[in-house]
Amino acid sequence: MRLLTGIQPSGDLHIGNFFGSIRPMISEQNENEVFAFIANYHAMTTVPDGERLSQLTMQAATDFLALGMDPERSTFWVQSDVKEVLELYWILSSFTPMGLLERAHSFKDKTAKGIAANHSLFSYPVLMAADILLYGSEIVPVGKDQIQHVEIARDIAIKFNNAYGDIFTLPNYRVDENVATVPGIDGQKMSKSYGNTINIFGEEKKQLKVIKKIVTETVPVEEPKEFKDCNIYNISKLFLDENKQIALQERYRQGGEGHGHFKLYLAEVIWEYYRPYREKRAYYENHQDEVREILRNGATKARQTALEVIEKVRSATGISY
Ligand code: ADP
Ligand code: TRP
Repeated sequence: MRLLTGIQPSGDLHIGNFFGSIRPMISEQNENEVFAFIANYHAMTTVPDGERLSQLTMQAATDFLALGMDPERSTFWVQSDVKEVLELYWILSSFTPMGLLERAHSFKDKTAKGIAANHSLFSYPVLMAADILLYGSEIVPVGKDQIQHVEIARDIAIKFNNAYGDIFTLPNYRVDENVATVPGIDGQKMSKSYGNTINIFGEEKKQLKVIKKIVTETVPVEEPKEFKDCNIYNISKLFLDENKQIALQERYRQGGEGHGHFKLYLAEVIWEYYRPYREKRAYYENHQDEVREILRNGATKARQTALEVIEKVRSATGISY
């Protein structure tokens, strides 16, 4: 099965991203053919600063390699390194009714928030359809907010296939209902836009400072504490095996320790959990040319698949003559 995913290079990754999307994607590499790219063209809709976009692109590549993206087993590249995607984007535009794009939630949400309604924001789903269809993707794992975009890609593919024959593989989205929503330090969903995140690769002192801000109920130190609705516990358990979860529950029940102790424990657990990833990240950080080479090789691999599809499209549409 071929899975494809696009990663927006949008800054520091947090543990919500890790458990909600990165770890499941990394583990897919054992069973499926994974195509993963850094969506830098898409990011232009929100990052109008060249230096920053190129820096964010390298940061995303470095982070994903450190977290287990395996360029030997998977195909990992930067969207703009395979220009055929822009050709397909234009071709697909002729099969995209305006109404389909006018109904897109993400466009409506973004403009409602005051982001200027330019054409790239409007046609964002068409480029995403090109990403998906160019690589013959069967499954597109997404969060709920992206379901509609995959449906749009499928609709466009059907319209195109109706006109020219079975050229595109019809993609399906996949939403993993088992993946828990990771709470932030205030108990809401962890998200960059809420400012309640614990980052994966933060500095140790800063991490501790953030963890100390986790909101808890106020209970005297000596009294037993409730672990069930405790934000510290709910974040801690993501990193602990069953025995360690039970041991922590016991510490809550016994009393004698304040929430401050549990926060220190959580900080330690997170720091240790990411130690091997941090080391790998430091390696790539010091070998950015190696990262660039991995991305270039990934693009070469991705282009092989892209060419098979785009040649069929050029021939069917009469673009090659
Ligand atoms: P943010 O909300 O911080 O902007 P993104 O929208 O960039 O995060 O999310 C990137 C990926 O991480 C998506 O697949 C999303 O489903 C996942 N994700 C983000 N926050 C969480 C969370 N709190 N719990 C689980 N998954 C999350
Ligand atoms: N729009 C996706 C997001 O914001 C990123 C993305 C771009 C994508 N192209 C894609 C995701 C193709 C899956 C498939 O997260």
